[in-house]
Amino acid sequence: MTTPGSAINQLPEDIPVLIDADRIAQRVSELATELERDLGELDAEVTLVPVMTGSMLFVSDLIRQLKIPMRIEPVTVQSYPGTATHSRGARLQTPIPEVLRGTHVVIIDDILDSGGTLNILRNLLGAVEPRSVRACVLLKKSVTRSHEVDCEYSGFDIPDKFVVGYGLDYDGFHRNLPYIGSLRNIES
Ligand code: IMP
Ligand code: MG
Repeated sequence: MTTPGSAINQLPEDIPVLIDADRIAQRVSELATELERDLGELDAEVTLVPVMTGSMLFVSDLIRQLKIPMRIEPVTVQSYPGTATHSRGARLQTPIPEVLRGTHVVIIDDILDSGGTLNILRNLLGAVEPRSVRACVLLKKSVTRSHEVDCEYSGFDIPDKFVVGYGLDYDGFHRNLPYIGSLRNIES
């Protein structure tokens, strides 16, 4: 059962750890190595497109390990307004940057759940004719997705739980936890 008041008031020590900070750091390094290998020798510019706000910690750790020339052009997609714990349909809140035209685009998101976010971005990106599009997420939920969507890089497969921390929120809270935790009292 969703009990909003208690979920946002939980203290960090009351939020059970699903993936600790050391495991996250290790996996982010591995993803950076993979991306650097694949993006290092391409025939056009590379643009990273972090999906705000959830990917902010992930992308800031990732880019500091990516030693290749790139632009970073964030977009904002909202699908979980307020206390929602199921996607209400992904909506793009910012224009697709024109600077992506002709570049190799890498969408960076915190978590792949229903697939709605990646689906809408991949569709809308078509308007600026990128040279290629890939997606990289930190977490992938083990669920039947309503949108079948390609995701070339992912950090961890996780169970179908509502998670917070390392950028992910519940009603705007808990993004600052240094680990991924699962909230008590919340059903995914
Ligand atoms: P999708 O569009 O359903 O694939 O979900 C992707 C977006 O929903 C992510 O970018 C997150 O912002 C949000 N989201 C999905 N699952 C969770 C979760 O367990 N905790 C926090 N945010 C989530
Ligand atoms: Mg998001």
